[in-house]
Amino acid sequence: MAEEKPRMNLDRKLYKGIVVHDNDEFPRLEKMEIRDDDIWVCSFPRSGTTLTQELVYLVETLDFKKVYEVQLDERFPIVGVKDERFPYYQGIDHIEKLPSPRMLKCHLHHFMLPEQLRNGKGRIIYICRNPKDIASSFFRLMQWADLLLEEEKSFDYFIEEFVNGTGLGCPWPRHLLEYWEKRNENVLFLKYEEVIKDLPKTVRSISDFLKKDLSDEDIKKISDYCQFNNMKSNDKCNMSYYRTFKHVNDEAEGGFMNKGKAGVWRDLLKPEVAARIDGMIRQLDGTGLEIPDV
Ligand code: A3P
Repeated sequence: MAEEKPRMNLDRKLYKGIVVHDNDEFPRLEKMEIRDDDIWVCSFPRSGTTLTQELVYLVETLDFKKVYEVQLDERFPIVGVKDERFPYYQGIDHIEKLPSPRMLKCHLHHFMLPEQLRNGKGRIIYICRNPKDIASSFFRLMQWADLLLEEEKSFDYFIEEFVNGTGLGCPWPRHLLEYWEKRNENVLFLKYEEVIKDLPKTVRSISDFLKKDLSDEDIKKISDYCQFNNMKSNDKCNMSYYRTFKHVNDEAEGGFMNKGKAGVWRDLLKPEVAARIDGMIRQLDGTGLEIPDV
């Protein structure tokens, strides 16, 4: 009989009003020491985090060899998830030992970040995406990674939680707004739809923000590497390695990298669901933050 691979911990808890994957490190995280040269890529899940991580990694290192040799999760580990049964989820002890400059990813709300980072030490690159595309992408990922609670296995229920702000990592509008308010401090704020439309422009914004002097050739090489089909075929960033160590549901459609496009929701969401999510976008009215609707 095939060996049963472990499932990720499905236990969730409320931490300061936000539904998170259970681990006991959140209070310690808030006190974590930040370094001036830390780079944090932050996002609501399924907003283009992986793409942003690769862009940042290459702007910072120009190491085109390593992106094919070392898993992205090792080069750019996640903060806020700890499960020692799995590689790369080793928690704060591991993160504290990483050499500088540390490149870290997280899906945490801004108010849950380490205090020093919130107060302007270190650098944050935030990426947002139209939530109509996030919704189906998130559901499919959770199906594939076998992370859905029993009741969430219906898409309608999942959407209900997403729109009501009671699902994992929600509420979406609050997630964006807290980072948006810091955009003139230590946050570079990106939008997925604009990023994929013009990768070279994004590479320039990131390199300006990180104060890296890149040649036109570097910018072209980074943009070429970050094309969707190229990243999707790289086993070091397409998360196919999940299959080797944890339970995934290969029957789920889509997986980690699906279409890599904007506006896919038009073929996937019922009009009434799209209208409800539009209501969530309207909560941003008056803030100056506009979400591209492709
Ligand atoms: P889809 O599921 O719509 O295809 P995250 O990394 O935050 O989990 O976001 C995942 C989404 O970003 C997925 O969207 C994935 O396909 C898309 N993505 C990943 N790499 C990409 C790239 N190089 N270009 C465009 N989209 C990309």
